[in-house]
Amino acid sequence: MREERAGRALVDAVDAGPAGPAGPAGSADAVLRVLRSRSVVRQYTGRQVDDEVLEMLVSAMLAAPTASNKQAWAFVAVRERRTLRLLGAFAPGIIGTPPLVVAACFDRSRPVDERGPGEGGWDMGLLCVAMAVENLLLAAHALGLGGCPVGGFREGPVRTVLRLPAHLDPVLLVPVGHPAGPLRPTDRRDRNEVLRHDTWEQ
Ligand SMILES: Cc1cc2nc3c(=O)[nH]c(=O)nc-3n(C[C@H](O)[C@H](O)[C@H](O)COP(=O)(O)O)c2cc1C
Repeated sequence: MREERAGRALVDAVDAGPAGPAGPAGSADAVLRVLRSRSVVRQYTGRQVDDEVLEMLVSAMLAAPTASNKQAWAFVAVRERRTLRLLGAFAPGIIGTPPLVVAACFDRSRPVDERGPGEGGWDMGLLCVAMAVENLLLAAHALGLGGCPVGGFREGPVRTVLRLPAHLDPVLLVPVGHPAGPLRPTDRRDRNEVLRHDTWEQ
């Protein structure tokens, strides 16, 4: 509960902009702490995600950058128990029954690129969906919740369960809930291996 209150204060501070109540330095520190400390959460307590929290998650998610501002995405926020159980049956990365799964989809009716499928034309749309999902995961973490992007699922049954029209392609299923245990930070590759300055070849 204390974590959730702190998370809400942080979301309010960020919402108020750089000159918000926490002041530029205070809110930047808090945001950077959130960015650095996220890791996937795969097991959740039985606590539900209420409407107010869902609304905060959704507004962070929909604020993500999107190619040509096409917003070629669509989401299904699932909290109904039967649907959650069905999704879990077709996505091995969803463990148990989380209180919320957000199905993040690419909307093929809003092309972001002249190129067609198979020529890289849909890649931009997929990137936009991924950015929205990262916003969702970071907002969840800021609020004391956690989640995991799940790309491994059986598309046909997931389409049927969610009653998706043909132009919506499910890209990631994102279970979200209150962590059942402490976060487990994962190793990162050495930054000297993945980052160079100014040019790659020196
Ligand atoms: C595009 C994408 C797809 C993923 N798909 C799955 C998945 O199907 N099942 C799963 O358990 N985790 C999945 N993950 C979570 C990764 O395993 C996890 O992010 C990675 O191990 C690093 O852990 P961290 O996010 O805690 O740093 C996926 C992550 C990404 C970015």
